[in-house]
Amino acid sequence: MPHSLAPLAPGAVPFAGHALTLLRDPADWLRRCTEAGHPVQQFRIWNRPGVLVTAPELAHEVLVTEADTYDKTGRVYDNTRAILGDIFGVADGRRNAVLRRRIQPAFRRARIVEAVPTMSLEARRLSGRWRSGTEIDVARATAPYVHRSAVRTMLPVVPAAEIDRLAAASSRLFSGLYLCALLPTAAMPLLARRLRPALDTLRRAQADALPKYREDPGCSGLLAALTETSGEDSPGPASEGEVGDYFVSLLLASGDNTHSAVAWLLHHLAQDQEMQQRLADEVAAVAPEGPATHAELARMPLLRNTIAETLRVRPPTWMVVRSAVRAAELGGHRLPAGTDVYVSPHLLHHDPAAFPDSGDFAPGRWPEGGPAARDHTYLPFGAGPRKCPGDHFGMTSVAVVTATLLATWRLLPAGPAPRTRFRTVQMPVRCRLTVLARRPGKPPR
Ligand code: HEM
Repeated sequence: MPHSLAPLAPGAVPFAGHALTLLRDPADWLRRCTEAGHPVQQFRIWNRPGVLVTAPELAHEVLVTEADTYDKTGRVYDNTRAILGDIFGVADGRRNAVLRRRIQPAFRRARIVEAVPTMSLEARRLSGRWRSGTEIDVARATAPYVHRSAVRTMLPVVPAAEIDRLAAASSRLFSGLYLCALLPTAAMPLLARRLRPALDTLRRAQADALPKYREDPGCSGLLAALTETSGEDSPGPASEGEVGDYFVSLLLASGDNTHSAVAWLLHHLAQDQEMQQRLADEVAAVAPEGPATHAELARMPLLRNTIAETLRVRPPTWMVVRSAVRAAELGGHRLPAGTDVYVSPHLLHHDPAAFPDSGDFAPGRWPEGGPAARDHTYLPFGAGPRKCPGDHFGMTSVAVVTATLLATWRLLPAGPAPRTRFRTVQMPVRCRLTVLARRPGKPPR
């Protein structure tokens, strides 16, 4: 079937195409696309043509083997860059590769090990605020942990009082960027105006913090990697503006993704009391005195697989998009230059052919060593040259808070099943849990 047009994905309506479906109930739509059974399906957002890829091997082609052909270009990224600037994570492939090389040392293992005590401190602060027998909204309750530990591990000089304001701005901005893909082009200036105050908040915080960072000779944090000048082809220390751009980009990319993973994980553990107890037992056996160190977390295979399974069932970044920079052929279909190409980790992770009973939360489906790079069906962190550079950092942050909370608290569902809000990440809404002390009378660790 060389060079035919791909069949139309279900759910299109006149004018808007699939835009409204993607705002309302993307999970159901993705399921219908899987059922439709075509590996490449035409997809339209307003008058902008695109394709949705449902076959794992074609997703691999788009993200990895033909990554030069499918870049972060086209309307979605033009719109995003018009708001954020040409920063790491949204720049086109060539520029991003340079930016990526420069920040890579920030994600070395040693820096992540160094970040664990800060994450631990924030996790204990969260745990210390809970009271036995009370109800929490899991997304609201865990937001301060995620954002505080992200800011403090990246740029420790940001004052504590600033962090919550920063976190709210970063979430508003990141979530709003979803609309860059969905709104008609004419609405973009309005979206940019709506998101401007949030971006200004991030930029101001970074501008206030960076001079202090420079003055501190013992400055720590992930972004300190940018001040390193060693190495033969070191480009020299980054300018303040460059460090500021990285700060905005990492804060946006890390915050809501990690927050979504933590919130969904706690939800699933509350639903599965047996798994929760096994996990609490693993934490107690490996780190009886708490808080768990990086080395101890590495000896908790059930914890690793529980996080892996959360990221399978509820991949925070549930859709990624590229654009064909030249005319291309994908799965036997012709794609004109400029076609947007969508790959959904959520769809791939729920394909029953790859994951039997794919809707069930079952950490036991993974081997003890965790998910291997298996036939391109498991992509919580993406793949290829744009794969998440913060994958270990994010996994560690989720592991630290889960181990800390389970050492003290038992989580029970309270109220009806949560709704899912699909924006740039998927997030549980109105997910209420009751927290009970595991050992009444014992203070949180
Ligand atoms: C559980 C937590 C996380 C998840 C599920 C996640 C997921 C992802 C995914 C799927 C992508 C690829 C997007 C694409 O292909 O278009 C990505 C990219 C990215 N992530 Fe993460 N992420 C997480 C945590 C983090 C953290 C903690 C950081 C930084 C500290 C981070 C920084 C980034 C950046 C900068 C990119 C863009 C990379 C590029 O374009 O070269 N992420 N993430």
